[in-house]
Amino acid sequence: MKLLLISALLSFTLAFTASCANKPDRDTTLGHQPLSLSEAFSSHFAIGSAINTQQANGLDAQSVAILNLHFNSLTPENDMKWERIQPQENVFTFEASDTLAAYAKKSQKDLIGHALVWHQQTPSWVFEDASGELVGRERLLARMKTHIFAIAGRYKNQIKGWDVVNEAFNEDGSLRESKWYQIIGKDYIEKAFEYAHQAAPKAKLYYNDYNLFKAAKMDGVIAMVKRLQAKGIRIDGIGEQAHYGIEPPIEELDISIQKVADTGLTMMITELDISVLKFPDEDNMGADISLSFALDKAYNPYKKGISASSQEKLANAYLSLFKLFLTHQQHIDRVTLWGVSDNDTWRNDWPMAGRSDYPLLFNRKYKAKSFVSDLIALAQQ
Ligand code: XIL
Repeated sequence: MKLLLISALLSFTLAFTASCANKPDRDTTLGHQPLSLSEAFSSHFAIGSAINTQQANGLDAQSVAILNLHFNSLTPENDMKWERIQPQENVFTFEASDTLAAYAKKSQKDLIGHALVWHQQTPSWVFEDASGELVGRERLLARMKTHIFAIAGRYKNQIKGWDVVNEAFNEDGSLRESKWYQIIGKDYIEKAFEYAHQAAPKAKLYYNDYNLFKAAKMDGVIAMVKRLQAKGIRIDGIGEQAHYGIEPPIEELDISIQKVADTGLTMMITELDISVLKFPDEDNMGADISLSFALDKAYNPYKKGISASSQEKLANAYLSLFKLFLTHQQHIDRVTLWGVSDNDTWRNDWPMAGRSDYPLLFNRKYKAKSFVSDLIALAQQ
């Protein structure tokens, strides 16, 4: 009997040691935390990250270690945008997106497609004929369809959900006067969702934008959702990008998430980051990537490191946001951070190139910031 017990104990110990050996090394990022971020939130929502080309190619081992351990969903930061996929008409370049998709598959992470129809990072040929004149509605619709079928079709068995249309609304809830809108008309959004549904029937279909916590903007989006629903066109979720400043709009966001839930759609936080720096144009806070200000020292105070008080504000901002997300967990599918570490966040260069910002969960030494363990604890309460 005693012998049996000893041998049972021994085999348990061996199995336990073996299973630990197979786990990635937590100490590199989180000390002795028993759970990673995505493990801690697994019963609430997915925890995603944007992934860049270097990381997808395995050329940034420290970021990849963090991705492997902490995130269970990936969104290509740039590799699936129109300018990368179809830089010239009918010239498709899938090398980077294939590499990224292969990494997602190998590491068993959800893959989110970003973005099919957008006015940015889309080459000008899309809207023009050979002589540089704007094309007509039918030609642009045909190009939209070809593009969506090519990329959404290619990954139709892997991509979990697509940002089908990105940033179509103005801050007041009216439609942005993009070339898509000017040339095709208001129904370009419907067409994009129809084509995406045909090309990738199993993928979830999302509308994605920034500043959707603003009531007027969200109301414009909700009216569009209702129009699509009335016409029987499938749309499954709304993504709030969530490129915030140090005081995120908690109360407004709370109301806006409820508005999405009331339509029956799910909500996603798709590009979360929290800049600790002053925004150079307070009236235009958001994520308009065409904004660009010359480097001004007065707006770059933390070149040599973030101050203790800003770090504390950052911790509070993240904690308040995740508390809110948890209260809406039945409506929220996924929270995605827009990058792995402060080393490669786009916010070092937007809206002012050359700043040192600190918007993410992992610092420039690829260590989890101290409040990450508080987020993990929060998930388990
Ligand atoms: C950004 C990327 O992070 C940058 O690398 C790129 O230079 C510009 O675009 N809204 C979006 C994202 O939907 O695709 C943008 O990503 C940030 C704003």
